[in-house]
Amino acid sequence: MMQADASAVRVGAARDVSYEVVHTTRGVFDLQENTLAARAGGRDVLIVVDHRVHQLYGDDIRRYGARRLRLAGIALVDGTEDAKSWAQVERVCAAALERRLPRDGVIVGVGGGSALDIAGLAAAVFRRGVAYVRIPTTLVGMVDVCVGIKHAVNFMGEKSALGAFYPPACGINDLSLLRTLPPRQISCGLAEIIKIAMVRGERLFDTLEAHVDALLRSRFQEPIGVALEVAVDAERLMAGELAPNLFEACRSRLVDFGHSVSPRLEAAAGFRLPHGEAVAIDMALSTALSVERGLCSDRVLDRLLHLCDRAALPVTQTLLTAEELWRCLQEVRRHRRGAINLVVPLAVGHAGFLQEVTPDEIAAAARLIDARVHPPSGPVHAGAGF
Ligand SMILES: NC(=O)c1ccc[n+]([C@@H]2O[C@H](COP(=O)([O-])OP(=O)(O)OC[C@H]3O[C@@H](n4cnc5c(N)ncnc54)[C@H](O)[C@@H]3O)[C@@H](O)[C@H]2O)c1
Ligand SMILES: [Zn+2]
Repeated sequence: MMQADASAVRVGAARDVSYEVVHTTRGVFDLQENTLAARAGGRDVLIVVDHRVHQLYGDDIRRYGARRLRLAGIALVDGTEDAKSWAQVERVCAAALERRLPRDGVIVGVGGGSALDIAGLAAAVFRRGVAYVRIPTTLVGMVDVCVGIKHAVNFMGEKSALGAFYPPACGINDLSLLRTLPPRQISCGLAEIIKIAMVRGERLFDTLEAHVDALLRSRFQEPIGVALEVAVDAERLMAGELAPNLFEACRSRLVDFGHSVSPRLEAAAGFRLPHGEAVAIDMALSTALSVERGLCSDRVLDRLLHLCDRAALPVTQTLLTAEELWRCLQEVRRHRRGAINLVVPLAVGHAGFLQEVTPDEIAAAARLIDARVHPPSGPVHAGAGF
């Protein structure tokens, strides 16, 4: 045992962390809408906007900034995965400095997860941290990014290598911003919602089964009551799961369902496989492994595969062999402190962890999925509907 150092000076402090994700029924940049103005509270504001979002909503944002905020400036960022770099964080900080954003100023991030990661990290480091309000414009941004506390950019070829845990002042979700989002991006958001429903939200899963087609077709605009209920439910379940482990002291997390081999699949596809699609493939594989082990019924797998199909999400892949997938899981161990902690459903709305799987089990799980997606008797599986 180490000797206590009598001359050691100990500094300790606890910090309460709490923030809200609020929902507007009017457009967030509608001049009548108070939420953003109220949260900015008369302080100087730098708005950081994704380029594409600026093309679509720039006029509304500028008008709102001029009439309802103390606008220091607007900085544009390239909110795509390829461009999620430290250089962009620096550019935002340079804009903040040029516009003389004070220590009590506010950075407002507007965009998808990529733009928000850049804006959030800039807010965390500029003048050692200024207030950060985020306004997501993608479904992933709303139900996933906006609930969490992490911000990261890619560095020297490594995903999310530079980042910070930095609590935002709040998040503002306006579903009407999703009306311009490409359908494939809506599917990716649905993958994250299916993820949390499968591990914690049986009722949410039922609601998705009842309405997924309309939600996808309308880009979460109709039925608006259901769209809002689904988004809020997903965020609440995410918050419930993240809050007790906000700084990730514990590495066995149910929210990692679908996030074990998916990063490697994205990399193997040269990042042309969107994150949500990789998550869907990973969720299917993990669920099939659970069926193989006798931990959940094959009805659970059928429900997942069918829901993913209706959400236009893939569930099979040819990028990696069973052996390679198994090796990915061994690498996952490094990030999860020696344990694989593979999240597997036990029933819809309930999940547990697996610590060991073999390449043979992975191959058998993949065959189980293939047999259901392409049944030998023909392309239509009457019961499951694909
Ligand atoms: N920090 C976190 O907790 C966290 C959590 C999940 C994901 N992420 C990160 O988020 C990123 C993915 O985010 P994403 O899925 O939101 O996509 P994204 O931010 O990469 O945006 C995808 C594309 O959609 C465009 N876009 C955004 N909003 C739009 C709108 N309303 N209409 C039309 N086009 C629009 C963007 O310009 C971009 O071209 C990844 O880099 C991921 O690592 C971070
Ligand atoms: Zn994800």
